[in-house]
This record gives sequence, C-alpha cells and structure tokens, in this order.
Amino acid sequence: MSDQAVVTLKDVDVEFHGKTRSVHAVDHVNLTVNRGDIYGIVGYSGAGKSTLVRTINLLQRPTSGSVNVLGQDMLALSAAQLRKERKRIGMIFQHFNLMNSRTIADNVAFPLKGIKSKQEIKKKVAELLDLVGLTDRANSYPAQLSGGQKQRVGIARALASDPEILISDEATSALDPKTTSSILDLLKSLNERLGLTIVLITHQMEAVKQICNRVAVMDAGAIIERGDLLQVFSNPKQQLTKDFIDTTLQLDQAIESVLQQPAVKNLGPNDRLLRLTYVGASADQPLVAKLFKSYHVTANILFGDIQILQDTPFGNLIVVLSGDQAQVDTGIQYLKQQDVKIEDILKKEA
Ligand SMILES: Nc1ncnc2c1ncn2[C@@H]1O[C@H](COP(=O)(O)OP(=O)(O)O)[C@@H](O)[C@H]1O
Ligand SMILES: [Mg+2]
Repeated sequence: MSDQAVVTLKDVDVEFHGKTRSVHAVDHVNLTVNRGDIYGIVGYSGAGKSTLVRTINLLQRPTSGSVNVLGQDMLALSAAQLRKERKRIGMIFQHFNLMNSRTIADNVAFPLKGIKSKQEIKKKVAELLDLVGLTDRANSYPAQLSGGQKQRVGIARALASDPEILISDEATSALDPKTTSSILDLLKSLNERLGLTIVLITHQMEAVKQICNRVAVMDAGAIIERGDLLQVFSNPKQQLTKDFIDTTLQLDQAIESVLQQPAVKNLGPNDRLLRLTYVGASADQPLVAKLFKSYHVTANILFGDIQILQDTPFGNLIVVLSGDQAQVDTGIQYLKQQDVKIEDILKKEA
C-alpha cells in the first residue's frame, strides 16, 4: 500500500450557530487518509463524525481549516469544479436514499443520466449490478429488496461515476449482524479489486475491526486517538477507546461472570487475577507452559478470546496466576518481556 495521501484535513473546525445555542461539531481536526486505506472513524452518536466527513466533499463547509482531496484544494474550487470533483467521492448512507418509484437499474443509472449515452449507461449499470451481486434484481423496485440488498444498490449507485474515494456514513447501522458482515466484506473486496479508498464512519467498533486498517476515535468533535488498527487495539490509550474495544470482545460480560467463579471468589493472598492482551506470535499455550516450567507459576485461564485482525492474532485472556509471590512477580516480568500487556482486574474494578 502506498502512502499517498488522498484526503488531508488540516485544522478543520465546524461551528453551528443556532438562535439559542451554538454547537462546536468539529473541533480542530487533522486527518490524513492514504490511498487504499479503509479508514474507520468511530464514536458515539453526536460525536461529529458525519459533520467531519461531510467536509471532505464540502457538503459541509468548514468554519475554518483546509480540505485537500486528491490533490485539490477543495475550498478554492468554483461551483462547477466542485461538482466535477465530487464525482470522485462516492457516498453511502444508513437509509440508502433510494428512489422508490424507480427500478434498481434506474436507481443505479441515475447519476449517469445526461452524462453518458443510453448504451454506455446500460453497460455500466450491468457491470455495477454484477459487482454488488444484484444482476437478477435489475427490474425489481426498492420495496421488493431486503435491507442488505438495498445497501448493495446504494453502493452500486455510489460507484457509478468511478469514484476513487467512498465515504460510508453508518451504512450498516440499520442492518442485522450477518447482513452487516456481508456488506463489510463487499466493501473490503471493492477496496482490493478497485483500489477504492474507503472512509468508514460507524458507532460500531465491530465494523472497524472487520475491515479497517486504520482507525480514529472521535469524541465531542475531536479525534482523541488514532492509528494503525492493531496498534490501537493492542494498546489503547483513552478510556473511550478501551470501552469501544472491550464491547467487541464482550469483555465486560466475561469479567462479570469470571468474578462469580469460585477460583476468583477464593483468591489466595499471592494469587493475581489478570487480563493479558497480546498481538502476534505470543500464543497463549507456550506462555502458560513456560510460566510453570521456569517459574513454577500456574496460570488458570478463566476466559480466552483470540481473534484475527489484519491476519494477526489478537489475544485477550483472563487468568489467575498462582505461586510463590516472588516467582509470580518474575513470571509477570517475563510476560511483559514477551510484549504481553498486563492489567490487574480487581484493582481496575475496585
Ligand atoms: N446542520 C446542523 N445544524 C446544527 N447542529 C448540527 C447540524 N448538524 C449536526 N449538528 C450537531 O453537531 C453535532 C455533531 O453531529 P454529527 O456530526 O451528526 O454527529 P455524529 O455523526 O457523530 O452522530 C451534534 O451535536 C449535532 O446535533
Ligand atoms: Mg452521523
């Protein structure tokens, strides 16, 4: 993947001034999206995600700051130039925004009307429907499709002008988990097959985890944390980021049920209840074996979850380490040397 920036926001600020109150929706944000990225922007409702991405295609003009997209200073463009530039930036939404009185083929053809010949449009629409797996629904109407199929139409329509960037604003938020996953897979395959750069806005860290290579966390208009997906997942700095990640692991439920187990209720004075987090090669089995063999520390695994992020194992374990206190301490040092992140669960809960 090249590191060519396709979107550069510098010090972008958006304020809305109402009659009774003002909202600082985007607070001095800097953001760089590189070609080929699937860049996730995650945050709760009202964090400013939609407003921020709408500054990329200037559906929202920033109060201050600069917006550079595909080498163009967007704020310097004339209205006609801006219309042209916007064709290079597709967008999909939570509510699909389809025209209900028109067929699927007509919905997809709509952005091409008056730009291409009838023949060209027909060919392009067929290609696009094939790309999203809806060839057999060309003559159906939106009401006859499932939510997932409607979003596929939205994607096909967004790709009609061959954009280089696709902005997805909560595109899977109205869909069930299985359909969400299949739409995310489709986005990922478009990213790979077409070299499409994707900016994915969501309140679901699960979606980010499935396909993004980079992630930014937004809160109250600001980006509070950002980075490579694995780096952020393995070593989140902000509490909000930790909360988002723990939700995808369902770790809160795990900790709650672990705390009810006898092994935890009757912890000995030298026992340590720990959360271990690791990325990459530190497989759980050799670590546990080594702890016992070299330090005579037993590790009782109460919860284990290993997921594959970007082809790399990402492990979360809840364990009780028992043994002689000095040896438990040495064992913990050993784990740290293996790049295992260690947190005391009881201290955290207290
Ligand atoms: N056109 C607007 N006029 C006034 N306030 C707005 C407008 N659009 C968004 N806001 C406010 O800006 C804040 C951020 O909204 P938004 O960008 O939609 O957040 P998100 O997409 O993360 O849910 C919210 O407080 C919202 O009410
Ligand atoms: Mg939004």
